[in-house]
Amino acid sequence: MAREGRGSNIAVIKYWGKRDKKKILPINSSLSVTLSPFDMGTCTSAAYNPSWKGVKLWLNGKEEDANTERIQNCLREIQARSGESDMKEGIRIVSTNNFPTAAGLASSASGYACLVAALGGLFKVEGDLSVIARQGSGSACRSMYGGFVKWEMGKEEDGSDSIAVQVAPETHWPSLHALILVVSDEKKKVSSTGGMEESVRTSKLLAHRAQAVVPDRMVRMEQAIKDKDFAAFGKLTMEDSNQFHATCLDTWPPIFYLNDTSRAIIQFVHAFNEEMGQICAAYTFDAGPNAVLFVEEANLVKLAHRVSAAFPPSKDKTLEDHLADDELRNKV
Ligand code: PMV
Repeated sequence: MAREGRGSNIAVIKYWGKRDKKKILPINSSLSVTLSPFDMGTCTSAAYNPSWKGVKLWLNGKEEDANTERIQNCLREIQARSGESDMKEGIRIVSTNNFPTAAGLASSASGYACLVAALGGLFKVEGDLSVIARQGSGSACRSMYGGFVKWEMGKEEDGSDSIAVQVAPETHWPSLHALILVVSDEKKKVSSTGGMEESVRTSKLLAHRAQAVVPDRMVRMEQAIKDKDFAAFGKLTMEDSNQFHATCLDTWPPIFYLNDTSRAIIQFVHAFNEEMGQICAAYTFDAGPNAVLFVEEANLVKLAHRVSAAFPPSKDKTLEDHLADDELRNKV
C-alpha cells in the first residue's frame, strides 16, 4: 500500500485555455503557490491485489466512478512507466480532502496530484510524475511539488515537455500567508473545462494574453518570488487575476465567475493598500467567486481584522462550519 498527501495550489499566473484538449496542453505557462497538505489538501491511499476485481475509488467516504477518462489516463500512464501489464484490475483508492470539496477550492488539483503520487509510489514509478498528473487535471501538475511551482507550457506535440518545475521550495518565503475567503460554496455553473473551451473559441483577448502578456509576467513573477518582493508579487497576482476574469467577460456568451461580494473584496483590498501606502495585500480568484488573499505575516492580523469587520460572518456559514459538516459527512 502507498499513502501520499498533496496540497491544493493557488495560481498567481493563471492557466486558462488548452491547445490540446485530450493531452491537456495549455496555451500559456502558469505559476502557483502550493498550500500545505495539512492546511488544505488531499490524502490518498492506494492498494493493489491482482485477485481483486476492477478499480474502485472512494472520495470523502463515498464510492465514486473510477472509470472516468481522466482517471483512466492517469492509470494508463502509470502502467506504461511501471511495466505492469493490466491496471484495469486489482486497485483500490481511498482519497480524502481536508477542505470542502464543493467550495470550488481547487480540489481537483490536490486530488489528481495525490492520486498520481500514490499510484507512482505503489508501482515504484520514478522520475517526474507531473506530466501524468497534468492528464488528470491541468493545474494538478503544479501540486506535485511544494512551494512555488511553474507549469511550463512546452512545445512538443506529445506533451513530454509540458511539466511542472519548482521555482522555490516551501521553506523559501515562510512569512507569506494565504487567507481563503469562502464567498459561496455552490458548485460553479460553468466548469473550468467548459469555460476554457468557450474562451479559446471566442475570446480575442485570450489569444493576446497568452502570446503577448503571460510570457513577460512569468519572468517577472519568478523574480518577485526569488526576491521575496511582495509589492511586485502582489501587483502581478492581482493584474493576472483581473485579466483572466476579463477574458471570461470577453468570451461569447460572457462567463461571470465573480459576484458582487467578490468585487467588494477587490475594492476592499485596493482601499487597504491605499491606506497602507503600498501593496501589502493581494487578491486572486479562480473559476468561482471565492477569494484568496496573500499577505505577509507582519500585516496578517491587521488584514484579518479588517476582513472580518468588512465582511462579518452572519447567517451564512463559515469555513469552520463547512469543515465541521465535511467531518460529519466523513463519519457517516
Ligand atoms: O486544472 P483545471 O482544469 O481545474 O483549471 C484550473 C483553472 C484555474 O484555476 C482558473 C487557473 C489555474 O491556473 O489554476
